[in-house]
Amino acid sequence: MEAILLVGGQGTRLRPLTISTPKPLLPAAGAPLLEHQLARARNAGVTRIVFATSYRAEMFTEAFGDGTRLGMEIVYVTEDEPLGTAGAIRNASTALACDADSPVLVLNGDILSGHDISAQIAAHEKGEAAVTLHLTLVDDARRYGSVPTSPDGRVLDFVEKSPNPPTNQVNAGCYVFRRSVIDGIPVGRVVSAEYETFPELLAAGEPVCGYVEAAYWLDVGTPAAFVRGVSDLVLGALASPVVTANEHGVLLLDDASVAPSARVGGGTVVGAGARVGADARVESSVLFDGVVIEPGARVIRSVIGDGARICSGVVLEDCVIGDGATVGQGNQLINGARVWPNVELPATAVRFSPE
Ligand code: GDD
Ligand code: MG
Repeated sequence: MEAILLVGGQGTRLRPLTISTPKPLLPAAGAPLLEHQLARARNAGVTRIVFATSYRAEMFTEAFGDGTRLGMEIVYVTEDEPLGTAGAIRNASTALACDADSPVLVLNGDILSGHDISAQIAAHEKGEAAVTLHLTLVDDARRYGSVPTSPDGRVLDFVEKSPNPPTNQVNAGCYVFRRSVIDGIPVGRVVSAEYETFPELLAAGEPVCGYVEAAYWLDVGTPAAFVRGVSDLVLGALASPVVTANEHGVLLLDDASVAPSARVGGGTVVGAGARVGADARVESSVLFDGVVIEPGARVIRSVIGDGARICSGVVLEDCVIGDGATVGQGNQLINGARVWPNVELPATAVRFSPE
């Protein structure tokens, strides 16, 4: 079966991490974030996948090449200017080989999902649908596409990012399209699947179906979600075919080192060549390659970019530290603070509890 992967977004909410790397390629538990979904798609029978790229397209080719390493054929179709989600699907479809009636799996590139892709494809075939959307339940649907369905699974409406969503059942970003439906999307202009294609299919009375499954699901669009997703992968809350076994809630990549007196856990990744010093505490955090955590520093639910240095006595909670930055001794950063790449924050420049 063939698939299209949407990976042209800029990942602005994850800056500064996404300045140098597109969101789907951020290192997540020993593999690029999107590799976990690719492995699941392959296990569900996808043998060929078209990457719809735009932002930093060349980095996808460098990471995955022709797909041999993953056991599937990968081809790339790049938009000079982003065409929107449906525009990208239409543009990528020029590289599909299947016929008009075949099902095509379409995946958002920033999702971690444990749902049964094979069951979704089977539901699509059984319902003879134009499109079948994976739907899941969230507490707050305002950031998503809200998708009410009838008791027999027909999609009744598609309401993208509304302050008053009609239901907490949302679009989970994994679709099965009948290929002829993709061929009907307008060519050569920006088209949004969420604002245009889905509402138009519904207005035309086309059979759009929902496949509801409440398995593990996360949109990894924000730093907090990224940290949660990676720690869930390390802790096994989401089984991934590409996460290697680890102990005590810590994944140590090649040549990582942790001092015996350091306390590291809660689903933490210590990147290749990274070092955690004596008495440091690192919890539910993602340390990219070459990071240095000096003795006595405390790092909680944070992402530390390539080669960044966290000096002794620093406290970081819910922070993002850019590649190559240095957080000088004794700084205290909390509540989503972000330090840009290569910045050197002088010692004790920021405190959150002035005495
Ligand atoms: N090639 C290409 N071109 N890809 C794009 C473009 C584009 O112009 N725009 C977005 N993408 C890709 C992104 O890289 C991402 O993988 C996917 O399409 C979805 O874009 P996001 O920017 O992450 O959208 P979202 O998270 O705000 O909302 C979407 O996903 C939600 C579920 O996570 C919508 O589909 C919502 O309806 C849905 O609930
Ligand atoms: Mg998203």
